Amino acid sequence: MSVQIEVVDLKTLPPSREVLTAKEQLYYETLRVPKRRSEWLGGRVALKKLIAKAEKVNLKQVEVLPNLEGKPTITVNGNSWEYAFSITHSHGVAVAAIDLQADFIGIDLEKIEHRIDAWKTGFFHQDELTDDGDDFLTALWTQKEAVVKLLGTGLSVNSFDVRCINGQVQFYGAALEVYNKLSRPQITLTTSSLLPGFMFTIAVGKTGTRF
Ligand SMILES: CC(C)(COP(=O)(O)OP(=O)(O)OC[C@H]1O[C@@H](n2cnc3c(N)ncnc32)[C@H](O)[C@@H]1OP(=O)(O)O)[C@@H](O)C(=O)NCCC(=O)NCCS
Repeated sequence: MSVQIEVVDLKTLPPSREVLTAKEQLYYETLRVPKRRSEWLGGRVALKKLIAKAEKVNLKQVEVLPNLEGKPTITVNGNSWEYAFSITHSHGVAVAAIDLQADFIGIDLEKIEHRIDAWKTGFFHQDELTDDGDDFLTALWTQKEAVVKLLGTGLSVNSFDVRCINGQVQFYGAALEVYNKLSRPQITLTTSSLLPGFMFTIAVGKTGTRF
């Protein structure tokens, strides 16, 4: 697999000024909630490390800023960096992934917990609910969130319009329109625990046009 992953423990973050560009630092200072601050910084540290290594530059030559929908965009030395990348954070951990051979990628990490039935039926289509266990439902959640990040929409699309059934993804409604606009990439889902007590999914999308 050509996906590269970096995991960052939010308890061991460097001071923000050591890793952020001036513009990133300005954005960082607008974040008021300490948890959100450390997650945002952790995601940057993880992603910048991967890109700095791939491009043989230092962390401050890589700039990662959100667009209006919250989706990050990247420049390296001021030039747009057009490869596939994604960020997730959960319970004190930030993870980033890049894939230089894919067109799209989305990742999601979630802690395995028991959740109420209203969450289950409000978020998943009945066709997805082929099991009822906490491991299964958490894995399913990471699959769906990884796919909506791959699409670039996040959860602005209806969660029922992205269905993950036995590792295959089906799109409906507005999600299908976005999927079509992206030239209908072939999507591969890889789900693992990554860290004890967590579920983690990488969704990789390839259209076959990059190589
Ligand atoms: C995107 C979304 C699936 C994130 O899932 P989550 O489980 O809550 O959070 P995660 O930690 O797994 O992922 C968050 C990361 O997803 C990324 N992300 C956000 N919007 C994204 C999008 N439209 N497409 C792809 N990735 C996106 C960001 O990197 C974000 O981390 P960062 O803000 O620190 O850079 C979902 O929360 C969502 O759709 N949110 C709505 C968008 C939003 O809140 N925007 C903020 C406007 S300022």
